[in-house]
Amino acid sequence: MSITVCPDGPLLVRGGYQLLDGDDRPIDPGRATVALCRCGASSIKPFCDGSHKRARFRAR
Ligand code: FES
Repeated sequence: MSITVCPDGPLLVRGGYQLLDGDDRPIDPGRATVALCRCGASSIKPFCDGSHKRARFRAR
């Protein structure tokens, strides 16, 4: 598994991983690579929907 921090954007998770919700229930991402929101603006959390651009999210 690898996690890539996108500048001012999501975390890209690739490879063998298991995604769990807050109650430790599995979330099926439906794909091998996922983009996880870290800006808080996504309407499909925990996944990124591109809203970080409209929100002008800055990681620094
Ligand atoms: S990081 Fe993309 S919507 Fe939050």
